[in-house]
Amino acid sequence: MADLNGPKHVAIIMDGNGRWAQMRGRPRLMGHHAGARRVREIVEACPDQGVKYLTVFAFSTENWKRTQSEVAGLMSLFRRYIQREARDLLARGVRVRFIGDRVRLDDKLVTLMDELELLTSENDKVHLTIALNYGGRDEVARATKRLAYDVAAGKLDPKDVGDETLTQYLDTCFLPDPDLVIRTSGEARISNFLLWQSAYAEYEFIETLWPDFTKDVFADVLSGYQSRDRRFGAVKV
Ligand code: FPP
Repeated sequence: MADLNGPKHVAIIMDGNGRWAQMRGRPRLMGHHAGARRVREIVEACPDQGVKYLTVFAFSTENWKRTQSEVAGLMSLFRRYIQREARDLLARGVRVRFIGDRVRLDDKLVTLMDELELLTSENDKVHLTIALNYGGRDEVARATKRLAYDVAAGKLDPKDVGDETLTQYLDTCFLPDPDLVIRTSGEARISNFLLWQSAYAEYEFIETLWPDFTKDVFADVLSGYQSRDRRFGAVKV
């Protein structure tokens, strides 16, 4: 059941697909396919858990360094995911948006992303944000560039630039900050994910590989969050 003290925005670094497949003697891409099925399960679980915003790290600006066949397989998986899931996401009240730099993504994928964003734009039950060709530093650099252009064009006075201004130029301008960032597979790194936005987030690093991250594991992680004491830098009185 949803808990009023639970996290409203959960962000997930979905790690461990490759190892999950290799442990079964299967190609890495099979792990990514299993991972995509878990994305569906976790999105479905969000309303019951009181999670309004779910942000998932699907492909980083560093993931281009993988073999050409893995990158091509992932891009094809993202296209198929959008084509297959669009109707169901719409029916479930999920609003989908993408963050990251679209410039390096192929035109067909970008068109599908645009279409899915438009198709689900009236939905408000769950907000699913998919980070694709996303890197936190790259996002801040792109935001800073846009901000600088607006200053140069006289649309923005440098005297007015502050924390909130930069927040509005980020890809995530439509999202609240994450309350909880989960990383699966036992790695305790943040790998350039939501660097600015996670300033006060709680982190949970768990051993479970992403393809094994069921809705029950999700519920366990969320119940652990309840016991945390979030002070946002203040002292509790
Ligand atoms: C990291 O595991 C995972 C990725 C780089 C890809 C994440 C993609 C998915 C879960 C699939 C689909 C997602 C959507 C939104 C449709 P890894 O390959 O680095 O695993 P390893 O560390 O075990 O090698």
